[in-house]
Amino acid sequence: MPTNMKIKKIWKWLLAQIFRIFLFLSSHFISLNLVSFLSPYFPLIYSVISRKRAAVTMIQRITRLAQSLPLRPSSASKLGAYCYFASGAASSTQQLCKPSLKSPNVRDDEYADVEWDNLGFGIVPTDYIYIMKCSKDDNFEEGQLCRYGNIELSPAAGVLSYGQGVYEGTKVYRKEDGRLLLFRPDENAIRMRIGAERMCMPSPSIHQFVDAVKQIAQANRRWVPPPGKGSLYIRPVLIGSGPTLGLAPAPEYTFFIYASPVQNYFKEGFAPLNLYVEDEYDRASLGGTGGVKSITNYAPVLKAMSRAKNRGFLDVLYLDSVNRKNVEEVSSCNVFIVKGNVISTPPAAGTILAGITRKTVIEIAGDHGYKVEERSIPVDEIMDADEVFCTGTAVGVAPVGTITYQNKRKEFKTGIDTVCPVLYSTLMGIKTGMIEDKKGWVVEI
Ligand code: COI
Repeated sequence: MPTNMKIKKIWKWLLAQIFRIFLFLSSHFISLNLVSFLSPYFPLIYSVISRKRAAVTMIQRITRLAQSLPLRPSSASKLGAYCYFASGAASSTQQLCKPSLKSPNVRDDEYADVEWDNLGFGIVPTDYIYIMKCSKDDNFEEGQLCRYGNIELSPAAGVLSYGQGVYEGTKVYRKEDGRLLLFRPDENAIRMRIGAERMCMPSPSIHQFVDAVKQIAQANRRWVPPPGKGSLYIRPVLIGSGPTLGLAPAPEYTFFIYASPVQNYFKEGFAPLNLYVEDEYDRASLGGTGGVKSITNYAPVLKAMSRAKNRGFLDVLYLDSVNRKNVEEVSSCNVFIVKGNVISTPPAAGTILAGITRKTVIEIAGDHGYKVEERSIPVDEIMDADEVFCTGTAVGVAPVGTITYQNKRKEFKTGIDTVCPVLYSTLMGIKTGMIEDKKGWVVEI
């Protein structure tokens, strides 16, 4: 055989072997979807492969196609690398959402088309959501970024009839230099685990939670408002998604995260809140779920809230359900009172949500030289306070202008020389990277 022919034959054989190895790797590391996608083209591919130039082009094209498919991540926090699930519970995640086919490589200086000056606290759909599933008695394994969209649920999902669910809220801020900052996300992870235990649900590990929050923030980074214009609110949710007819823990659980750019929680902006003390409806009871971020804590306050709104108030301050004597919290945030140099807040001992902003403000206030007390606060005492303010992830640190209790209205000090703006600016300074974080609270993404 002439040498030329021999070289051609070796070359042909070599390409065929490369292609076989490629297909083998594809089926193992990418997914069987690629193989089934390519199978109708096998004869064509094989014939083309005998022509080296065309073969090389073909291989390049296939490689590009493979790169656009979800891959097993080499590092869980690395963007642009996604996995298909191997386990039964996990693979059904794919029915919940469309896996991302495009790598979310967003330039650091790229912004979404949003009117940043008109942000409130409403849903603005972003690019990606994160989803992770596991069955009862199992552990969460690997999650996945998906394009933002509706998720599919069984009509018998435990969460729908029996309210098996907890959620979290945290915010991402953009620094002047473009870096993205999270605030104490491990605290959210811990709180979700405590809440999940109370609601009989498995929950993501702290590492999985924080990693997922970082992924969703990074994937949606063009939705993080410019410095000073707000933040990207991140909402991790854990639900009993498996079907159950009788009252029992669901057979399957879904952890998902979505995000939305936000600014002020109340549409009144930074204006002091006017609160109504509710003495008919309770928010939480001893032995209930008031102390965890269960989804079941929120619908029951809507009635009291809408009644207060109809009477011209912004929100409701709830009392303890035993004696209706001590203040507990507001529908969406914790409450603090200031009298002289003492700042007091009701203890998070079962009926009051252990707010992360609450915990942080207690520490910041101590650092500023205030005496901070966690103790029961009779409603009569709050009416005698110098200053009242609320704390929460969504709300921030917000001054209370008035409280109305049994037709008595009390006005509180607000404005520049009060405690609230001092605590607010310290907290915001740390969260946004303007004030040095000496406590290890800020996590850069
Ligand atoms: C938050 O502050 O993040 C909350 O989850 C409260 C919610 C009512 C907006």
